[in-house]
Amino acid sequence: MSKVIILDFGSQVTQLIARRVREAGVYSEIHPCTTAAKDIAAMKPDAVILSGGPASVGEKDAPQLDMGILNLGVPILGICYGMQLLAHALGGSLAQSQTREYGPADFEAIAPSPLWDGIESLAGGTSRIWMSHGDKVQAPPPGFTVSGRTATLDVAAMCCEEKRIYALQFHPEVHHSECGAQILRNFLFKVAGITPDWSMSSFVERSIRQIRETVGESHVICALSGGVDSTVVAVLLSKAIGKRLHCIFVDNGLLRQNEGEKVVRYLRENFDLNLKYVQASDHFLSLLAHVDDPERKRKLIGHAFIEIFDREAEAVKAQGHDVRFLAQGTLYPDVIESVSAKGPSAVIKSHHNVGGLPEKMNLRLIEPLRELFKDEVRAAGAEMGIPDSILWRHPFPGPGLAIRVIGEVTRERLEILRAADSIVLEELHASGWYRKVWQGFAVLLPLKTVGVMGDGRTYEHVIALRIVESVDAMTADWARLPAEVLAGISGRIINEVKGVNRVVYDISSKPPSTIEWE
Ligand code: XMP
Repeated sequence: MSKVIILDFGSQVTQLIARRVREAGVYSEIHPCTTAAKDIAAMKPDAVILSGGPASVGEKDAPQLDMGILNLGVPILGICYGMQLLAHALGGSLAQSQTREYGPADFEAIAPSPLWDGIESLAGGTSRIWMSHGDKVQAPPPGFTVSGRTATLDVAAMCCEEKRIYALQFHPEVHHSECGAQILRNFLFKVAGITPDWSMSSFVERSIRQIRETVGESHVICALSGGVDSTVVAVLLSKAIGKRLHCIFVDNGLLRQNEGEKVVRYLRENFDLNLKYVQASDHFLSLLAHVDDPERKRKLIGHAFIEIFDREAEAVKAQGHDVRFLAQGTLYPDVIESVSAKGPSAVIKSHHNVGGLPEKMNLRLIEPLRELFKDEVRAAGAEMGIPDSILWRHPFPGPGLAIRVIGEVTRERLEILRAADSIVLEELHASGWYRKVWQGFAVLLPLKTVGVMGDGRTYEHVIALRIVESVDAMTADWARLPAEVLAGISGRIINEVKGVNRVVYDISSKPPSTIEWE
């Protein structure tokens, strides 16, 4: 398989480079900028891309370039900081700057380059690109040609065709750079001569082969939540090892309307999964009785989940199966080693409830999605026939509705929330907004308010609507839904959900608020 290595010098958008390369059909991996040239050589890349970064070349502790990278015999593309590093290392000169140029600029090609192939706007005109830099290249290194400029930058692009080294001051990986995707494709195909061979069908095939090799004749256990990642993991594993995969679905009584049954029925009917449905609602609800502190709810639910999962896994072993692996839906953004100001540091998030289990249970982890970005997980799922209704499901927190019933969690209050929540989802689907927002749900507040219905006064519950836009849940903003969509949701909840007489819309952003209320 073709492979591009991206060296991360700390830019906020390094992941975008990897995604654009993959969108072009070429597998890419991000590695810290401190990775030694010999280690990169061992990865057998077809090309290397140097990312941008916040440092200033030459300043104390600024990331350096391992010159051995220039002798790997593969084409190199330097972006922003990557361009300045190349210029500095090869004998060009830089101009330091106190002010950053940030935002759009018009790029003009002033010398032919395979990178400009097929970009009509650059044939005698300009193309809108995105800049974010302080320092700049003043004079390119000997042997380099200046191949592009902007109104404020004399050296916005440079190259040495002979050595196959190319550099851009702007960011081709961001969408605001109109010709950016084409420039990257030109680098991959015209300069590096790569054949695109990364597709989700090839991924699925290859993974199935690898899983079979790794697992051999042993058995695998998988905690199925019904979310996108765990569903794709389960289907992929079941295609590889069939009934030697044991999925465990724990119904904690905190799921959305009919969700548990729906997910389990669908997976059993369509994928012939070996799936155990564990009904543990009573247990979870009795643990949660009289608990209103959010963190205590989370802890109780997390521990109870691990206990039940542990017991069920032991039961599989007790049937005489040689269980050796635990499957997890870890994704690529969770395993990338990112570069902090102080140097590379491994940032590994554990976003799964089963974290902590393998050690105790003496199982090895199997993480078939650890190479994939979220959109690729969806594409792989679609490739295997999983429908959009599962693949495009909004994120749902591990503690479920327990952290959306503010205050004490009781069966009655869960029933009210479930009914209101299912109306929110139905209306988002019907109005075409479900796929446009990151998450949309109802929250049951711990207070009652006065209303009037018919001739009588009512004193009933309040539902808050939380509907947000986001790209990664780190920041979020409330969705500007049309008034008629909000009116539709509110009208239906008040008319159809017994015990609710008021609906409010949460118009706070994250930060300072969070997406969930607890
Ligand atoms: P917050 O509320 O922190 O949520 O803005 C960010 C994202 O994380 C989800 N979330 C959780 N997911 N266990 C989970 O698995 C949790 O305890 C939890 N709390 C929040 C939330 O739904 C949103 O997508």
